[in-house]
Formats: sequence, C-alpha cells, structure tokens
Amino acid sequence: MAPVMEIMRAAFDPAYGEAWTSGQCAGILASPGTWLMIAELDGRPAGFALTRVIVDEAELLLIAVHPEARRRGIGVRLIAGVAEAARRRGAASLFLEVRSNNPAIALYTGTGFSKVGERINYYRGANGDLFDAHTYSLPLCP
Ligand SMILES: CC(C)(COP(=O)(O)OP(=O)(O)OC[C@H]1O[C@@H](n2cnc3c(N)ncnc32)[C@H](O)[C@@H]1OP(=O)(O)O)[C@@H](O)C(=O)NCCC(=O)NCCS
Repeated sequence: MAPVMEIMRAAFDPAYGEAWTSGQCAGILASPGTWLMIAELDGRPAGFALTRVIVDEAELLLIAVHPEARRRGIGVRLIAGVAEAARRRGAASLFLEVRSNNPAIALYTGTGFSKVGERINYYRGANGDLFDAHTYSLPLCP
C-alpha cells in the first residue's frame, strides 16, 4: 500500500480533501468485488485506480497519477484497464463521480464517458466550500 499512498499524497490537492487514508483504502479493498490497479513508469509505480463491481455496475472510486508522470497517457491506460477488468467481471457499465471543476473531466470525456447526472453541493472542501458532483457513465461492450 505504501506506493499507492505516496501517489495519493502527491496527486490530490489538499484543498479538496479528496485523498483517502490507507485505512480507508484497506477497508474498501477488503470488500468483495473491489480491486486496485497500479500503473508503472520506468519500473516504478506512477498511478493507480480503485474500482468496485456490484452485480452489473462498476464504479471507479479513485484514479490518480503522480504529478511527475502526468500527460503521458497513464490515465487513459488505467481507464482502459479498469474498463476491461470490469467487463470481465460482468459489469455492463462503469460509473464515476467527480467534482464539477476537476480537470480530470477532460480525461473522462476523452475516453468515452458521458455525463448522466449531477449532485449539487455534494463535496465539501477542506475550508468548507461546497462543490457539485457530476456523475459520468461508460457503457462496457460485452
Ligand atoms: C486526472 C489524472 C488521473 C490524469 O492522469 P494523466 O496520466 O495525466 O492523464 P493522461 O495523460 O492519460 O491524459 C489523457 C488526456 O486527458 C486530458 N487531460 C488529462 N489531464 C488533464 C488536465 N489536468 N487538464 C486538461 N486535460 C487533461 C487531456 O486531453 C489528455 O490528453 P493530452 O495530454 O494529449 O492533452 C491526473 O491528473 C490526476 O491524478 N489528478 C489528480 C487526482 C484526481 O483528481 N483524480 C480524479 C478524481 S478521483
């Protein structure tokens, strides 16, 4: 878990309080249908994705790439790997929720996700500011 936590600390802006603790990661990984995918760059962990499948729906819970490894296609490859693994586990679609002002949205729309919903004031930032969540979905071909 140490390499994942190193990427977690470096990747998430503390202003939004979105990084998970190692206890939160370990807790969710102990639940059925949840898995962690790690991407390497030059033999070192550079990014990860945490995903859960429940019946025929998969949820991308977290995706992060170390700032020093960004804009080299690791995010795209993680999403492709997650989509393929979710499909193999029986999911028909892959969902995610993202803060409405997160630049990661460009990654999601670029990999085929479409916006399917909004939750107003869903996230509370570290200083108490509220941010909407947008829900995105990607159909997984059988
Ligand atoms: C979002 C994140 C995972 C993207 O990882 P990445 O490896 O840099 O993504 P890729 O290199 O595969 O990007 C593919 C495309 O997505 C888009 N994109 C990715 N990051 C972007 C950004 N910050 N701003 C605008 N577009 C972006 C671009 O179109 C990019 O293609 P290009 O580099 O040819 O322009 C990374 O920025 C990150 O870890 N962010 C912080 C954590 C986070 O907020 N995660 C999402 C919520 S859980």
